[in-house]
Amino acid sequence: MTNAPWWSQAVFYQIYPRSFADGNGDGTGDLAGISSRLDYLVELGVDAIWISPFQRSPQVDHGYDISDHCDVDPLFGTLADFDSMLAGAHERGLRVTIDMVPNHSSDQHPWFQRALASGPGSPERELYVFRDGLGEHGELPPTNVASLFGGPAWTRVTEPDGQPGQWYFHLFAAQQPDWNWGNEAVLEEFRRVFRFWLDRGVDGFRIDAGDALIKHPAYRGDDPLMPLIRKDPNSPVHRIYRELRKVMDSYPGERMAVLEMGGDREVLTSLVRPDEMHLYFNFPFMHSREWDDDKTLAEAIDLALWMRGSTGTPPTWVTDNHDTPRSVTRYGSHVQLAGDYVPTTGDPAPPTTDLTLGTRRARAMALALLSLPGAAYIYNGQELGLPNVDDLPEELLQDPVWERTGHQERGRDGCRIPLPWGGAEPPYEFSPTGTSTWLPQPTDWAPRSVAAQRGDPDSMLARYRHLLALRRAHPALRTGAVTWLPRPPHTIGYERTCFAGEHPGAAVIEVWLNLGTTPIALPSGEILASSAPVTDTLPADTAAWVRTR
Ligand code: BGC
Repeated sequence: MTNAPWWSQAVFYQIYPRSFADGNGDGTGDLAGISSRLDYLVELGVDAIWISPFQRSPQVDHGYDISDHCDVDPLFGTLADFDSMLAGAHERGLRVTIDMVPNHSSDQHPWFQRALASGPGSPERELYVFRDGLGEHGELPPTNVASLFGGPAWTRVTEPDGQPGQWYFHLFAAQQPDWNWGNEAVLEEFRRVFRFWLDRGVDGFRIDAGDALIKHPAYRGDDPLMPLIRKDPNSPVHRIYRELRKVMDSYPGERMAVLEMGGDREVLTSLVRPDEMHLYFNFPFMHSREWDDDKTLAEAIDLALWMRGSTGTPPTWVTDNHDTPRSVTRYGSHVQLAGDYVPTTGDPAPPTTDLTLGTRRARAMALALLSLPGAAYIYNGQELGLPNVDDLPEELLQDPVWERTGHQERGRDGCRIPLPWGGAEPPYEFSPTGTSTWLPQPTDWAPRSVAAQRGDPDSMLARYRHLLALRRAHPALRTGAVTWLPRPPHTIGYERTCFAGEHPGAAVIEVWLNLGTTPIALPSGEILASSAPVTDTLPADTAAWVRTR
């Protein structure tokens, strides 16, 4: 065995708390619901969970607008519910990581309220990004930067004297003002918040918008990401992450953090370092391609491996999360680029979506996801093969993106539908019979429920369990080297081996993924797993793990 830290090879399961399981029967998932389904996660075979925000929040962005970082929102329960969930997870050997949202707070956060009340030039305003407007009366925003959620990134406030006044910066919704990380008090406050949860026993954090903390508010172009200082290796962001790392390292038990960040090679290397945060999400792997574009998929894999070689940061593999249309739907779309597919008004689903095809491909992609070295993330419902729900009635849409884009983009609700656990009709045992869930579930999801799939050895759920068990049994699926094999066009083929001396005698496994339309020959060896029946050839849209030694 090796001494690799647990997080460097772990499979994390992302829980979107509204949508995982409802413990109190109000139609919205909560912490008690998570507690009640921990055995399911053990049975699935994951190592850890990441819970999206459950802290106190007005819920404008479903919890990503936090008004008290050290309390639980009543919608999700209490701190006692959190402690009991955490204890239940630890008893079962599951690690628990939670979302940390350092880029912005809610506009209801007491510090922002105080900043509003204290007026221009006050120390309270220095905690956020306030600027005077342009124009004769300050009536124009300080820059023309747009919010990532649509509309301008600046909102004008009314001053304590009742007059229109300064503007504040918000990368996301207006109710999510950005902190000024140039202010030492913000760092000190987050040290306190980290300690609060580390003291309670969490194993780590997912850092929301981790590449956005340091701003360049004077930037006047129209690229929303340019005001963020991301590429400067001397950026103060390194000090911030080093300071937070010190806090984490002062606790026993290999606490960790994964950064949500986008970007190219330069951005990635400038932000992830061994003495800063531990992992980052490999979004190019999720976003990079049309289905048969093996070249960009291979490049995304190479980028992560290059990062490992260059900075020592283990790769992290992900295809689904709460911000992206579900992969079953993306892979079933013939014309849309995976990462660019955004359902728009009047076009609830791309006309070419073929869910049977998308499901077949998602089953295949799971074999790539779970066979690469490093950590992997599974988003709740991915293991059930849930599709995106793109026909929610407009009046039920909740994502702030819908309003902020003037009803041009439907937003992310479609990948956040409550999970089906059993039964023949909604709410599928997510909530008690007769309860309306916070977003409605499709009426044809009974065959996709956990109970329905549990009894079917060929179901997506059974496949995930099998793959996760194999990943535990075979270290070459989670550590070591990736060696590209000579491969026909539109295929991915690599050999997986442990590093020398790491796990003597461990199996050597070839991974093949056919993204094209022509069957390809498989190497001789033992088929450990395949996403569809295979013989000595691998059909289109299918993947296999073959033990060759
Ligand atoms: C989260 C989103 C959230 C945004 C603002 C993201 O990157 O993943 O769900 O809306 O940050 O907090």
